[in-house]
Amino acid sequence: MSLDAVSAAELIAWYAEMGVTEALDETPHDHFAAAPEPARQPVARPQVAAQQARRPVAVATATPPDEAALSARALAREATTLDALKTALASFEGCPLKATAKNLVFADGNPAAKVMFVGEAPGADEDRIGLPFVGRSGQLLDRMLAAIGLNRQEHVYIANLLPWRPPGNRTPTPQEVAICLPFIQRQIELVDPDILVCIGGPSAQGLLGVSGILASRGRWMEYDTGKRMIRAIATLHPAYLLRQPLQKRLAWRDLRVLKAALDAL
Ligand code: URA
Repeated sequence: MSLDAVSAAELIAWYAEMGVTEALDETPHDHFAAAPEPARQPVARPQVAAQQARRPVAVATATPPDEAALSARALAREATTLDALKTALASFEGCPLKATAKNLVFADGNPAAKVMFVGEAPGADEDRIGLPFVGRSGQLLDRMLAAIGLNRQEHVYIANLLPWRPPGNRTPTPQEVAICLPFIQRQIELVDPDILVCIGGPSAQGLLGVSGILASRGRWMEYDTGKRMIRAIATLHPAYLLRQPLQKRLAWRDLRVLKAALDAL
């Protein structure tokens, strides 16, 4: 490979790492250039305008967030198994993130596990593969689990607050969270774990109603699954730990607290 090809490959890998995964256009645009004059619309003759007004217009409107959240709640409630919930999510058109995501990322791990982890939303790798936490932060999560003797195939069930990737890995908006919340709440109810672990701030805020992950992590809270009250704890997101490795000592404390609770079950 020539040096240029190597640098180009490195540049593309860096873009992917930064979350830039969509090529928007092939030619550069000068966005500072003066905008062209809008083309003048011909004045419609009165009877043509009247005909046009009668014709139904096909406009692609997004479902208003409140309506989408209501329909999500109804769909989630109807699902009585995890498979039915996944099918319901796959047919749900109320969340705009679905349009830009490649895959629905539903869950991984053992649905009979005693502990359920809920992250924020899929990243680029998860979106491509269709499974949660398979990228760099997922690999760190696996190592964190292994440190307390757990593996994802046997001991844990993993999902996300949102099942579709926000473009460029941006933080989900409050509307997107509100729309998708009934699905993850139902997923937790159906899995019925003994312990819920919220990974990162948005998950802790969405499911436990706490803000400020550094202040709320590492202490036991209660979560109502709809069937029963279970123990819940928030911890730091592995993506954050990759950027702030010194904070791993806090995550390690949380893991030890989790391990003690699991041993006591
Ligand atoms: N970050 C998350 O919160 N979830 C994933 O699945 C991957 C990265």
